[in-house]
Amino acid sequence: MYTPAITGSGVFTPSNVITNEELVESFNAHVDLFNVENAEAIAAGDVTAKEHSSAEFIFKASGIEQRYVLDKEGVLDPKRMYPHFRQRSDDEPGIMTEIALDACHKALAAAGRTGEEVDLVICAASNMERAYPAVAIEIQQGLGAGGFGFDMNVACSSATFGIQAAADMVRSGSIRCAIVVNPEITSGHLEWRDRDCHFIFGDVATAVVIERAEDAKGDHFIVHSTRCATQFSNNIRNNNGFLRRTRPDGVADRRDMQFMQNGRKVFKEVVPMVSAHILAHMEEEGRSSDQLSRMWLHQANKGMNDFIGKKVLGRVPEKGEQPNILQDYANTSSAGSIIAFSKYSDDMAKGDIGLICSFGAGYSVGSVIVEKA
Ligand code: COA
Repeated sequence: MYTPAITGSGVFTPSNVITNEELVESFNAHVDLFNVENAEAIAAGDVTAKEHSSAEFIFKASGIEQRYVLDKEGVLDPKRMYPHFRQRSDDEPGIMTEIALDACHKALAAAGRTGEEVDLVICAASNMERAYPAVAIEIQQGLGAGGFGFDMNVACSSATFGIQAAADMVRSGSIRCAIVVNPEITSGHLEWRDRDCHFIFGDVATAVVIERAEDAKGDHFIVHSTRCATQFSNNIRNNNGFLRRTRPDGVADRRDMQFMQNGRKVFKEVVPMVSAHILAHMEEEGRSSDQLSRMWLHQANKGMNDFIGKKVLGRVPEKGEQPNILQDYANTSSAGSIIAFSKYSDDMAKGDIGLICSFGAGYSVGSVIVEKA
């Protein structure tokens, strides 16, 4: 058995930023257009009038101040409200592969490795841009990697579930060097026309390199253990899928073909589930929470993270103990905890213990206990 370690990480950040104010301005223009276009039906009581959004509400309810997106124009066009991506030919890399490769190259550079040294690529994300061939295999080709690749989808928990799979394979010796990459084009699944959730998501790609600790070329994080759990819930759901055209209304523009959630219920149910999961994982490892130097949590809602941090540590986390990046990136699905890890781990001292934790649809929760070496 070998000891797995995270030896490098990388983040691709799109160049377009949308502030809450810009988002609300376009959303409110969309609402005004909708209400005028549907005035008769609204007056007859057949259609519900849409209400304006507010930047103050967004910040207060979520902690989000802005988000990055691959295409700003389409998202902010009040007559469109979703991104424009050009049609790529089958001979070109897909858009997920393109942003994934950027994050992979950064992670490999941090690990002092080249793509040819990789023998496993896991593309772990909330959405895949096509059914097959696996996006991971295209990324594998782009990296010049050997071995094999496969896609995984556990929604917002995809990164930690991917890390568990890769770490277990490194541990057993079936692979030597893995890359787990999370290209999250959440702007494609977000319903930008829904006031309850239009502010939630942003685009990004993250990657981590996982290999034998004995092979690490520099500072690294030993993966002590991982723990994944799932429990079925309909409170976060997207019904889009390959059977879409078979249904009576075919490919109609239906609300449930995009991200849907019952945010309040998610908040209430997921916070205790995640806190209990982390505490049980720490106990199983024979560690108490006061041994935790840092928690890199999933980035969905600042309030949720504040609750989880307090429950796990038994006190309000000190500044820097539980870094949030959601104010800048919003919810980037599976990538959130890895952005936090990538940006806020260099300063840790040898022997410091940290915990990466992601959670979300399923419900699902995954945690990874690491030690700086
Ligand atoms: N602008 C202004 N007001 C808004 C609004 C908006 N964009 N969206 C909702 N409101 C209003 C609602 O109509 C409601 O008004 P009411 O009290 O008069 O009925 C009020 O604000 C509260 O709405 P609610 O949906 O209960 O807000 P919330 O405090 O639960 O915050 C979320 C909403 C989505 C930020 C929060 O529930 C959340 O983050 N949940 C967890 C999300 C999550 O982790 N999801 C996982 C995805 S991976």
